[in-house]
Amino acid sequence: MKILVTGAAGFIGSAVCRHLLAHTEHSIVALDSLTYAAGYLDITRHSFNERVSFEKVDIRNLDELTRVFQVHQPNAVMHLAAESHVDRSIDGPLAFIATNVVGTANLLEAAKHHWSKLDQVSREGFRFHHISTDEVFGSLGTTGFFSESTPYSPNSPYSASKAGADHLVMAWHHTYGLPVVVTNCSNNYGPYHFPEKLIPLMIISALEGKPLPVYGNGANIRDWLFVEDHAEALCLVLERGSVGEKYNIGGNAERANLSVVKEICRILDELIPDDGGSRERLIQFVDDRPGHDFRYAIDASKIELELGWRPRFTFEQGLQKTVRWYLDNSVWWQELRQRSYNGERLGLSALK
Ligand SMILES: NC(=O)c1ccc[n+]([C@@H]2O[C@H](COP(=O)([O-])OP(=O)(O)OC[C@H]3O[C@@H](n4cnc5c(N)ncnc54)[C@H](O)[C@@H]3O)[C@@H](O)[C@H]2O)c1
Repeated sequence: MKILVTGAAGFIGSAVCRHLLAHTEHSIVALDSLTYAAGYLDITRHSFNERVSFEKVDIRNLDELTRVFQVHQPNAVMHLAAESHVDRSIDGPLAFIATNVVGTANLLEAAKHHWSKLDQVSREGFRFHHISTDEVFGSLGTTGFFSESTPYSPNSPYSASKAGADHLVMAWHHTYGLPVVVTNCSNNYGPYHFPEKLIPLMIISALEGKPLPVYGNGANIRDWLFVEDHAEALCLVLERGSVGEKYNIGGNAERANLSVVKEICRILDELIPDDGGSRERLIQFVDDRPGHDFRYAIDASKIELELGWRPRFTFEQGLQKTVRWYLDNSVWWQELRQRSYNGERLGLSALK
């Protein structure tokens, strides 16, 4: 099978590509426009792997997408390209609409055009897998879980743009019969995570002895999913998920942000003790994110019961692996910090 993976140079897209290469025989058309967020540039090199062809293409460009489908004739699409950082969506929402909504509509059109020309067997086997977020469901109180039937109620420009994309994907299925599957997952963490996100930002800042900025009082709760578990789940849904269905994917690991930061400090203190004492002393409470959702939590029983998927890593195991990866790969994050993002606070424009 040949799979077109969009956002292949990003955090999760690159984990999906590594998973496909290590555990399947599929070939990959890796598509990415290489925005500031592209952190896995190895995949752009011709010599990377003979099963991978790289296409530097922007999903806002329908003509280019049409060309990619014509040239490569993929059997499936895994769509991960997106503007993905919530704080940036507060400062500049239109880029999120352009890529996440219009770009997804372009990809659907290009895929539909390609799919409509396939023979009957290939048409039935074709899949358009849209990768989305649990943030489309809005915010939970202290109890309850998001299921596949939870009504959409997105609160940030990012989550609203992803919700728009999810609706478009389902509309292309209902209207044109395009064989789609949609997954909504919780917060990922792991290797190659862009250093603007909570976990890598805290690891790097703690290593550098810089303040650890915790939004509000640190009580907001996220469910954390190790990215390699997510990549495995996505590949399973692509191969065995039912057409027209949605699957929630979660890590079964709810943690308050403050406790995540404290756990990172604990692991670092253990691995490289600091003369100044525990790195918890670096924690600083800062202005909350405008419209910060309180809690996300996933009911992942559908994917577990129907496809037999469960996360392999506990949060403690995944976090250990992640911290060690950042310690071993400082060249990667130092280069990215110089090129794209140096740890500054984003997303406060709504307060001005
Ligand atoms: N990271 C998470 O915790 C998380 C959770 C749930 C869902 N998701 C979803 O998973 C997908 C991947 O997330 P991620 O964390 O890997 O994001 P990321 O920001 O690390 O990667 C996104 C990739 O898409 C590329 N891209 C952006 N705009 C593009 C465009 N117009 N054309 C082509 N390529 C473009 C970027 O260059 C980047 O390589 C996204 O759709 C995101 O909404 C992420």
